[in-house]
Amino acid sequence: MLFNFFSLAALASIATTVSAQGSFCPEAARFGNVNVSPSTLSPGETFTVTANLTCAIEKGNTPTFLDYYISATATHTVTGPILIARRTYDNTTSPPIDQFTAVLPNWFYFTDATYSLELQNSFARAGPTGESVITTGGILTPINITGF
Ligand SMILES: *[C@@H]1O[C@H](CO)[C@@H](O)[C@H](O)[C@H]1NC(C)=O
Ligand SMILES: *[C@@H]1O[C@H](CO)[C@@H](O)[C@H](O)[C@H]1NC(C)=O
Ligand SMILES: *[C@@H]1O[C@H](CO)[C@@H](O)[C@H](O)[C@H]1NC(C)=O
Repeated sequence: MLFNFFSLAALASIATTVSAQGSFCPEAARFGNVNVSPSTLSPGETFTVTANLTCAIEKGNTPTFLDYYISATATHTVTGPILIARRTYDNTTSPPIDQFTAVLPNWFYFTDATYSLELQNSFARAGPTGESVITTGGILTPINITGF
C-alpha cells in the first residue's frame, strides 16, 4: 500500500510538471481575457474594450463570434445582461486582440448591484459525428457603474 501511494504521488507530480511546461495559459483564460478602460463608467460614457484571445486560441477555443455584455448581480432581481457589441472574429488577426470602443447605454442600473463586463466566446467544436457545432464559454471582468 505504501509503495502504491508513493508511486501515484510520483506520477501525479510528473503529470503536473509536464502540463505546466506545455502551457503558460491558466485554465481561467480558456475563453480569453477581457479588460475595460476606464473601468468606472457612467451612462453615455465611451469606454474601450480589449479582449486578448491568445489563451483561448491556445486552448483550441478560436472564436467565431464574440459577444460582449454588461451583467449584474444583486440581492434582488436585475434586468439584463445588456448587449454591448456582437462581433465576428477574424481568426487571422495578429496579435489575437479584439479591441473597440462602445458607449454605456442608459439602462436600469442599481446602486447596490455588482457589475461586470462579460465576454462570450462562441467557437466551433467537432461533435460525435465530426459535424462542426458552435458552443460558447465566457469570462467576466468587474466594472463600476455610477452617475445614473
Ligand atoms: C495576451 O495574453 C498573452 C497570454 O497571457 C500575453 O502573453 C500577451 O502579452 C497578451 N497580449 C497583450 C497585447 O496584452
Ligand atoms: C479560421 O478561418 C478559416 C476561414 O474561415 C477556417 O477555414 C478555419 O477553420 C478557421 N480556423 C479555426 C481554428 O477556427
Ligand atoms: C470600483 O470602485 C471601487 C471604489 O471606488 C474601487 O475600489 C474599485 O477598484 C473599482 N473597480 C473597478 C473595476 O474599477
